Amino acid sequence: NNHKSDSRGALIVLEGLDRCGKTSQSSRLLSFLERLGYLVESWHFPDRNTGVGQMISSYLANEAQLDDHAIHLLFSANRWEKRSLMETRLRSGTTLIVDRYSYSGVAFSSAKGLDIEWCKAPEMGLLAPDLVLYLDIPPEKAAERGGYGGERYEQLEFQRKVAHSYQLLHDVSWKTVDACLPIEDVEKQLGEMALDCVTTCQKGKALSQLWS
Ligand code: TMP
Repeated sequence: NNHKSDSRGALIVLEGLDRCGKTSQSSRLLSFLERLGYLVESWHFPDRNTGVGQMISSYLANEAQLDDHAIHLLFSANRWEKRSLMETRLRSGTTLIVDRYSYSGVAFSSAKGLDIEWCKAPEMGLLAPDLVLYLDIPPEKAAERGGYGGERYEQLEFQRKVAHSYQLLHDVSWKTVDACLPIEDVEKQLGEMALDCVTTCQKGKALSQLWS
């Protein structure tokens, strides 16, 4: 096709508390963009398939104990091990819809009391998202949705702290969507915002790095 050489896919991240609906919205967004003919892949962090990802998974299942700093660095390493593939995909024109990214990393660890600047440091140099879609839900509402699977962080009191930490991370790439709206309304809003972003990246927009 006739893409300019600086044309690329978009890096779109979905963020929010546990049970905010990210996972089902990211698959809806994937099909929406596919139907329009775009190259698109759905990613998720933590990527539990790598060696690092398996350590993270057993930590989350409470099967392994790790120092708060150590697990923070593992979550970050799990993004670093996918960085070059991420860049290759974007430059070849594929849009990535990423369920959780560095913002989860910082929000969850700083909610434990770790210094926020310390938490951000290992994320520096990872690719910056073109768009962060924050699915906003009150922690109480998310807890009511049930299905907290019993993983380490799935507790109301902790999710309240995470919600607070997320508020400190908003930047120009953020768009907040009310995750309490009917699922189709959320889907429609996300679709419009994502499409706008994909179009901009297709025209050629420089890739940048966290945190700027
Ligand atoms: P998941 O349920 O989306 O797979 O995420 C597992 C948990 O890990 C979730 O409670 C959020 C948390 N998390 C972090 O603490 N740091 C991170 O960097 C990421 C990606 C997730």
